[in-house]
Amino acid sequence: MRIILLGMPGAGKGTQAQIIEEELAIANVSTGAILREVSKSKSDLGQKVQSYVNSGQLVPDEIIIEMLVQRISKDDCNNGFILDGFPRNIEQAKSLDQAGVSIDLVIYLKILEEQIIERMSGRRIHLASGRSYHTTFNPPKVDGKDDLTGEELVQRSDDKPDVIKKRLEVYFNETEPMLDFYKNKDIQFYEIDASEPVKAVTEKILKIIN
Ligand code: AP5
Repeated sequence: MRIILLGMPGAGKGTQAQIIEEELAIANVSTGAILREVSKSKSDLGQKVQSYVNSGQLVPDEIIIEMLVQRISKDDCNNGFILDGFPRNIEQAKSLDQAGVSIDLVIYLKILEEQIIERMSGRRIHLASGRSYHTTFNPPKVDGKDDLTGEELVQRSDDKPDVIKKRLEVYFNETEPMLDFYKNKDIQFYEIDASEPVKAVTEKILKIIN
């Protein structure tokens, strides 16, 4: 099963991808998490990536497409994968076709812009794994600690109001137009109301997959 999860920043893609990964035993491939990991490095590439992510802009296609294609060629993707955060524009969507990567299902998590700020301001993540929590809506078992490792949770550097504004602008300009690319393609496309609680959204996704 090869799934693409689409949606506005903060729609819940990472949260649902984490759950689906466990439910279906498929790889969870988050380009945001990959880029946050790369940006920890002091290398030129790491610094370059960090400057794009921290300003809310998309990392250039030539960097991210190669990273993604390499990532999904790893063994843990043989059973299938769920893409969270890729593709982000039409060029990236076409690159999957060009690389001969077929997709079974596209799921679009729909949410209103008004809900985004509340979700992002309460978000806390485990930096090493990318696991995402929310102080109110999806709290960890122990306050401020990752459920699996017990390590400290942090706030993302791009979850600041001015950067969120930029990310939303990029989403409307570059990512939303890509929805039509998939709607017009011979591929199963589902739209889900992602404004409901985490569990309700998961149930809808699993119903589609099953
Ligand atoms: P990325 O990490 O992909 O960020 P994003 O797409 O902006 O999405 P988010 O991670 O912010 O949100 P999400 O939908 O995963 O929501 P989450 O589940 O965390 O990308 C970051 C940056 O990397 C980009 O800006 C760009 O610079 C770069 N990048 C990444 N991919 C790229 C690409 N392909 N090309 C170029 N550049 C790229 O949920 C949000 C919060 O809400 C959490 O606290 C969660 O607990 C809570 N929550 C989730 N679901 C619910 C619910 N149903 N009810 C209540 N709360 C909920």
